[in-house]
Amino acid sequence: MKIAISGKGGVGKTTIMALLAREFKRQGKKVLLIDADPSPHMAQTLGIRPEGVTPIAEMTRLLAERAEKTEGSPFYQLNPQVNDLLQEFMLEEEGYRLMVLGAIQKADGGCACPENHVLRKMLKKMLLEADEVVLLDMEAGVEHLGRGTVAGVDHLLIVVIPSNSSIRTGLKIKKLAEEAGIPRIWFVGNLIQNANDRTFLMAGLGAEPIAWFPDAQAIRSAERREEAVVTIADPLDNAPAILAARLTEFG
Ligand SMILES: Nc1ncnc2c1ncn2[C@@H]1O[C@H](COP(=O)(O)OP(=O)(O)O)[C@@H](O)[C@H]1O
Ligand SMILES: [Mg+2]
Repeated sequence: MKIAISGKGGVGKTTIMALLAREFKRQGKKVLLIDADPSPHMAQTLGIRPEGVTPIAEMTRLLAERAEKTEGSPFYQLNPQVNDLLQEFMLEEEGYRLMVLGAIQKADGGCACPENHVLRKMLKKMLLEADEVVLLDMEAGVEHLGRGTVAGVDHLLIVVIPSNSSIRTGLKIKKLAEEAGIPRIWFVGNLIQNANDRTFLMAGLGAEPIAWFPDAQAIRSAERREEAVVTIADPLDNAPAILAARLTEFG
């Protein structure tokens, strides 16, 4: 199962991915996280030291070098043994496997196209075992959907918080994701304080999120103490377990 996450900046995408990763790990699944945010901090959220990880951006350089030695311009070619290649760019710690895209945002606003192209190919070609889950943490906004980077995923989670701007971005992402042909698209509510928040979100979205994450002091405190969110004991209204169960249920 390959799951990507999207939503407005700061709505809790990375936090929710880390909590989902912990839940899948608890269930005995093999979890691979891909941090595709240009300012990556998934490692920190998981309590992993990211020093040992080679960014995928580096892989594009290696592929380009290799391409120069072969005919044609297979700049973007990944050989059929993509899984072997992936091992080189994976950090394994605390029972999680982590990859970092490492795309550098250009000052002129140009896109990190080679990295994203490799990521797209990887997502399409990666062969997963039944107990493997790939979680893709994305940059905020909608640009990556336009580039089709996440076309190979099974599920897209769109994180929304009870604010109009978050709902507007969420609806825009949903439309683009549908156009990109992503099979399953879900809203996930975050920073929920009460029933009013839920009602407001559902009215704005015209749909019910598949899970509701509470506005949690435990998460805030962990962040302030610079502790990994996956260390908190608060069950968060069972939201991570509910989310994992629903994603598994819908395959
Ligand atoms: N449910 C929550 N309760 C309290 N704080 C949260 C919650 N979800 C996220 N946060 C906090 O909000 C901030 C942004 O979260 P983050 O996951 O980094 O967002 P994004 O990845 O969407 O930019 C972080 O400081 C995080 O600790
Ligand atoms: Mg993030």
